[in-house]
Amino acid sequence: MNVRGRVRPPGDKSISHRVLMLASLARGTSELEGLLTGDDVKSTARVLRQLGAEISAIRDGGPVRVRGSRLTRPAARLHCGNSGTTARLLLGLLAGHAFEARLTGDASLRRRPMRRVTEPLRAMGAQIREQRGDALPLTIRGGRLRSLTYTTPVASAQIKSALLLAALTGNVAVTIREPYLSRDHTERLFVHLGLGLHARDGAIVYEPPARRGVVPSFHLSVPGDASSAAFLVAAALLAERGELLVENVGVNPSRTGFLVALERMGARVERVNLRDEGGEPVADLIARPARLRGTEITAAEVPTLVDEVPILAILASRAERGGETVFREVGELRVKESNRLELLAANLRAVGAAAAVQGNDLHVRGGGGTPRGRVETARDHRLAMGFAVLGTVPGADVRLSERASVSISYPRFFSDLRRIGEGGRGKGRT
Ligand code: S3P
Repeated sequence: MNVRGRVRPPGDKSISHRVLMLASLARGTSELEGLLTGDDVKSTARVLRQLGAEISAIRDGGPVRVRGSRLTRPAARLHCGNSGTTARLLLGLLAGHAFEARLTGDASLRRRPMRRVTEPLRAMGAQIREQRGDALPLTIRGGRLRSLTYTTPVASAQIKSALLLAALTGNVAVTIREPYLSRDHTERLFVHLGLGLHARDGAIVYEPPARRGVVPSFHLSVPGDASSAAFLVAAALLAERGELLVENVGVNPSRTGFLVALERMGARVERVNLRDEGGEPVADLIARPARLRGTEITAAEVPTLVDEVPILAILASRAERGGETVFREVGELRVKESNRLELLAANLRAVGAAAAVQGNDLHVRGGGGTPRGRVETARDHRLAMGFAVLGTVPGADVRLSERASVSISYPRFFSDLRRIGEGGRGKGRT
């Protein structure tokens, strides 16, 4: 296809969860612009309402108003839907509250590990009861917490954020180290709101104020999601002709590893109109068709592009013949919304590309023929969007097992993808 025009990705999913949670703890009314309207963010809003926050309807267009309050014991269990971020950050938020709450989620979320968060929260003093081992459903009773110094076993912003929210609500100190830097949106928001956070000797340190602190209400505009923008950028790179302007994208360096990797693969995506929005760097991206070559993604880079591995692997399959791309240490992808690692490799093979998992590394070979075949998304939004982009290659016939999952993070994905392409000649089927 050809690409043209401009497009705005939806609000950042990670930041949307965090601002809803912090606004629910704040005294007064906060106003949030540009919040993602995807299902995951609606899950966060739903459980926060059950805990007493007043949150206006989350729909495109107008701002969302949040009236924070002292959170109270929920009357029913808290259903986190498909959202790992909701579940893990909520456990942290509840750790500082002296009441009992039960958390659950959909079948995919109930398969995802929770001890990575519950173990350090227990060390801080939260009581957590498991029903089915290292998974939801879980019952948590928070209350009086103690300080913690902790090194996370994996670079995970969800673990880090859960501990920061526990320290904030429990009014205790926490010092966190991680093997590699994961996304730092929570830290930036804490700093933006003046909530006692600083870096010391490579660690993140939260120190509570002498008297129990109050989260101030705030007004914030959520930048567009770099992870959603990555699919649009990829569609432009694979296009035959044209140029695409992707507006209002969060370009926090802990999220833009895909742009760094793409540069090594031979695609220069320009950043223009750089600005700051609520402590986060934001820019417009200009993407054009490119000839790609293979590259190696190191373990240290993975946290900066963890959600972009599917689309980068799909692009790698379109790189020049013989060029191999290796993603080192991407075992974490086994515990995302699906077993993304195995499904990614299997689906690439299903459409005729060469891909293999070796240990925790993913190998993808470039130079495949025209992609043709059926893709099993396992209702994983990032697999659905990634393979839909592959379906725009001229002559492609990529059939997805479902498309509805895109509503998790990018409800208007298919209409945006259609709009940026001129359609007609050479357009693949998705
Ligand atoms: C997220 C962190 C990442 C990411 C997820 C969102 C967040 O997960 O994959 O989509 O908002 O903190 P991990 O913390 O498990 O790496």
